[in-house]
Amino acid sequence: LYRKAVAKELPTFLLIGPSGAGKTTLLTLFANGSPSPTHTSQEPQSAVCQLPSSARSSEDRYRSENDTSAQAQPKLALLDTPGHGKLRHHATSSLTTGSSLKGLIFVVDSAAVSSAAGLTEAAEYLHDVLLLLQKRHTQSKTSKDPQAIPVLVAANKQDVFTSLPAGLVRTKLEEEIAKVRRTRSKGLLDSGIGMDEGAGGDEETNWLGEYGTTDFKFSQMGEHGVEVSVRGGNAKGDGGESGKVNQWWEWVGGNI
Ligand code: GTP
Ligand code: MG
Repeated sequence: LYRKAVAKELPTFLLIGPSGAGKTTLLTLFANGSPSPTHTSQEPQSAVCQLPSSARSSEDRYRSENDTSAQAQPKLALLDTPGHGKLRHHATSSLTTGSSLKGLIFVVDSAAVSSAAGLTEAAEYLHDVLLLLQKRHTQSKTSKDPQAIPVLVAANKQDVFTSLPAGLVRTKLEEEIAKVRRTRSKGLLDSGIGMDEGAGGDEETNWLGEYGTTDFKFSQMGEHGVEVSVRGGNAKGDGGESGKVNQWWEWVGGNI
């Protein structure tokens, strides 16, 4: 008996990150080809986008260079979430549900992370998101949900002259996440949570990356099934024109 699959769910990518980072701007750019003016988001919203022909999808990898047969570029759903601290449950709840979730785009304002406050905000949010993915992976070893969710850290606003280049955004975030990790684990010890489970216990499950290390590197997420890439771009250009987002489209294409 052969039955056609019921309307397959589109591969979904989640936009997440601090308020003002440029998530909604990126959503409008990916969906319409040019960025629209935005307001601070209070609700999640989604849009259907199509991979531009300049970006190769993962299926294309196996096609010969000489294969010129027309192939429709794949479609995807992009889900934008509000970055305000009190509205982040929208983002975190979509992380634990949704089987068609293919990847997570964590948008940061590359100029804002050059200030201590901006860096801390981004690092705390990213730490919490990565820890959720890590726990998801740990739990999936016993249940059957093996799907790994890769993370793109989109170092946005590269057009702003005070912005840090992507490589520096990466190391600054890694250093700051190491601090967040230390603070959180100290908080746990002080509060006594996990103490009755003996050494390790809860403290180890709540520790991001390689347990007990001083430095945090995104590569430590590999052993937890989370591949993190950091790439620069800008959702908006100088004169409000569409910015440079090729590297992000390429990442999406490779993970679709
Ligand atoms: P929340 O909805 O509050 O979580 O913020 P958001 O991440 O959706 O930010 P939004 O897309 O609304 O962008 C915030 C501001 O940054 C807007 O004024 C955008 O025009 C501006 N912006 C976004 N991307 C860029 C960029 O690449 N370069 C420059 N110069 N400005 C940008
Ligand atoms: Mg928004």
